[in-house]
Amino acid sequence: MDELQKKISSLDNSRMPVHVAMIMDGNGRWAKKQGFARSDGHAEGVSTVHRVTKLSSDLGIKYLTLYAFSTENWNRPADEVDTLMYLIGWAIERELPELLENNVRIHLLGDIDRIPEDARKRLLYAREATSHCTGLQLNMCLSYSARWEIAEAARRIARKAVAGELDPDSISEQMVADNLTTAGIPDPDLLIRTGGEERISNYLLWQIAYSELYFTPVLWPDFSDEEYVDAIIDYQNRERRFGKTSEQVQNNE
Ligand code: IPE
Ligand code: IPE
Ligand code: MG
Repeated sequence: MDELQKKISSLDNSRMPVHVAMIMDGNGRWAKKQGFARSDGHAEGVSTVHRVTKLSSDLGIKYLTLYAFSTENWNRPADEVDTLMYLIGWAIERELPELLENNVRIHLLGDIDRIPEDARKRLLYAREATSHCTGLQLNMCLSYSARWEIAEAARRIARKAVAGELDPDSISEQMVADNLTTAGIPDPDLLIRTGGEERISNYLLWQIAYSELYFTPVLWPDFSDEEYVDAIIDYQNRERRFGKTSEQVQNNE
């Protein structure tokens, strides 16, 4: 058995995260280190997406949410944005047969209307083509930011209130959650950020209220299956208290 298999078999199946979210950071620095262009780092990052999707699916994780392009990333140089959009469209098309084979369902989170038409069409096609899949749900966050999403939810709820369809006093946390792009998806259990920065960068602010955070200096193109399993092992060794005391948690109160 190799190291990876040993680590996988040491996992506690009763404590697997249901939903893992990732901030895929460090492509640019990876490229710079090798003397390549930033876009080569993004291209290399696609292989990591392929691997983490496959491993998540093999481990029986139900939801994998990947931050691929933030609202703020639109402010990058135009040629980098163009390359990223090209890569996203190219990668989703290339990956589609294997996604189908592995029963992976694609879901899109973010302001998809802002994605250039060519990439958007491929993404929408992949979402439609995988809509019957019942295995891993892969949520791709594109032109996504949490504040955009929360403001959108506020607009939707306000419209219903103005139309007389709901009483503002009845607005609950559940109603807010139901109006986010993640409606119906359980909150992430584990959030992994590669690339060494210890910040959230406007990602899933509402949903990560009680997620376990895991930061690694490893750059996204170098993020290996073993490192992913290490993050899950770390997660499994934590006690999630949700505000209670350790004693209460241990007594299942
Ligand atoms: C993450 O890598 C990919 C995207 C944000 C699209 P970066 O491009 O941010 O890489 P660094 O942080 O500059 O190394
Ligand atoms: C976060 O990475 C966004 C994605 C990974 C898509 P950034 O590289 O954009 O984050 P900051 O700007 O360093 O916070
Ligand atoms: Mg970055």
